[in-house]
Amino acid sequence: MCGIVGYIGRKEKKEILLDGLQELEYRGYDSAGIAVIEGEKLNNFKAVGKLENLRNKTNTFESEGFGVSIGHTRWATHGKPTELNAHPHLGAYSYVVHNGIIENYQELKKELQNEGVTFLSQTDTETIVHLFEKYHKELGDPFKAFEKTIERLEGAYATLLITEAAPDTVFFAKNGSPMLLGFDGNEVYFASSDTPIIGKANEVYYLEDGEYGYAKEEEVKLFDATGEKSFTKQALTADKALAQKDGYRFFMEKEIYEQSRVMSDTMIGRILEDSIYFEELPEDFFEGIYAIKICACGTSYHSALAASYLFERIGKMRCDVEIASEFRYKEPFLTDKTLFITISQSGETADTLEALKMAKAAGLKTLTICNVDNSSIVRESDAAILTRAGIEKGVASTKAFATQSMVLWMLALYVGQIRHSVSEETLKREIDAMLHTPKALVVEDKLHERIHRLSKRYLHGHGFFFIGRDIFYPLALEGALKLKEISYLHAEGYPAGEMKHGPIALADSELFTIALMPRSLLYDKIKSNVEELSARDATILAISPEPFELADDFIQTRYDSHPILEYFEMMVVTQLLALEISVRLGNDVDMPRNLAKSVTVE
Ligand code: F6R
Repeated sequence: MCGIVGYIGRKEKKEILLDGLQELEYRGYDSAGIAVIEGEKLNNFKAVGKLENLRNKTNTFESEGFGVSIGHTRWATHGKPTELNAHPHLGAYSYVVHNGIIENYQELKKELQNEGVTFLSQTDTETIVHLFEKYHKELGDPFKAFEKTIERLEGAYATLLITEAAPDTVFFAKNGSPMLLGFDGNEVYFASSDTPIIGKANEVYYLEDGEYGYAKEEEVKLFDATGEKSFTKQALTADKALAQKDGYRFFMEKEIYEQSRVMSDTMIGRILEDSIYFEELPEDFFEGIYAIKICACGTSYHSALAASYLFERIGKMRCDVEIASEFRYKEPFLTDKTLFITISQSGETADTLEALKMAKAAGLKTLTICNVDNSSIVRESDAAILTRAGIEKGVASTKAFATQSMVLWMLALYVGQIRHSVSEETLKREIDAMLHTPKALVVEDKLHERIHRLSKRYLHGHGFFFIGRDIFYPLALEGALKLKEISYLHAEGYPAGEMKHGPIALADSELFTIALMPRSLLYDKIKSNVEELSARDATILAISPEPFELADDFIQTRYDSHPILEYFEMMVVTQLLALEISVRLGNDVDMPRNLAKSVTVE
């Protein structure tokens, strides 16, 4: 995820910015940059790759004396990770850094281009600085120009802007992405999370959505839609490790809670009022394509499997899915009317990459769904759709899986839309449901507390069966994988209807069945499968919006209006269950034994 730092004061600004960005490294980035205004002098440096590259570039630059400064680490979402796309972005005399996504940037960009503005980058961010300079020319006042700029922005953002027109000032705004102000005497710090300012500032103010303002050495003014407002600073925590995890106990826990927000990022610009749009796909991308084959590993394979139901049901396109390591050696029969999709969180998984190369060699068109731009798999593919989950630190994948599922759902609908296989009514219903996903993913305190309490009953036994039908079968596989990875307990995912064909022989009170029982899809079918298990005395934990009297334990979910909303809600429950069991067993949640985040060997 992108990171922001800023500083107003007399200390060496370059060092403060670079140290601050270093503290944000754990969030992941692919390029970085800083801009400093000292007196009349404006300096700007950018570099692709590690911060070390930026350090080398700024070797001979020193910034002493009073000045204002901003810095940024970028995780590519709009445009490749290049120096031109790295922040800060320059207008004629101003610089801007930004986190989040400006949803209406294309419309703003067109408007500015029509007025003669030249854009250097492919980013949404650059519109901010040009808008600011346009309004500055019109209004003559930098703050009024900033205020007017902010009014025009739609989407989620946190932004800092500096300008030669007000060389002692940093303009700031927040809406949907985090941003804080830090204070030490007259010095003012800015950052997208506490870590860069711990040990530097002693007080902090966390901006609320819709707040904006400006800061100078001895003056900080805060505004929102109602006008100027006062604010109360608070003492700053000194615990860096806790701050990195935004106060959560584990990265995995933080990432589970982040899912609601990143899902909005995944959708931005892709869900229009009554259609789906992928800027990444040429209009004729699906021309001549009659089938889809998806290849992936582990969790990414599970999202693929769920998608295969959607491509067939919604997109009316044949879709089959293969585990990449199996595909490689089966001498697959490939036809050129098949679109070959790879899914990978890291973009570096060796088996998936090799499968992709094989498909390319056979002349297939290729598409990848990935979280890391410029990764090997993205570079190798004809087209790529980024999932925009931000870096995932927990080895057990959570938000990457959620965003993969979301992109695939949108893609299935997109296929249906361009092939005219979905009615307007279905399109509307699916889009409505998509827009509800961030809400379905909000983790309520009472849900987490209930799962925490229940988890103590599931620390022993001779195994877990996660069962579900339809798209809840891949979700059952994923739930079982999460539990295995971090609890080291034996768990299997199974299609509920298959239990009676063998596995039911294992049923007894020490066999834990986690039953995914959505109300909106095949409820009666799964109910009778669970009844069969209950009759054999299996211990049942039912996850459903519908109370189920035969369950030993029951976790009630909220949504029953659309199967995929139920899917996402149940996904969160299974993730939290694995997490709480792992914590009780004293395991290392974020770095489970024997596992690596990126599997670059066969
Ligand atoms: C499980 C997990 C792994 C990965 C698998 C593929 O939590 O993360 O199963 O999904 O190693 O990795 P990517 O998606 O990077 O190709």
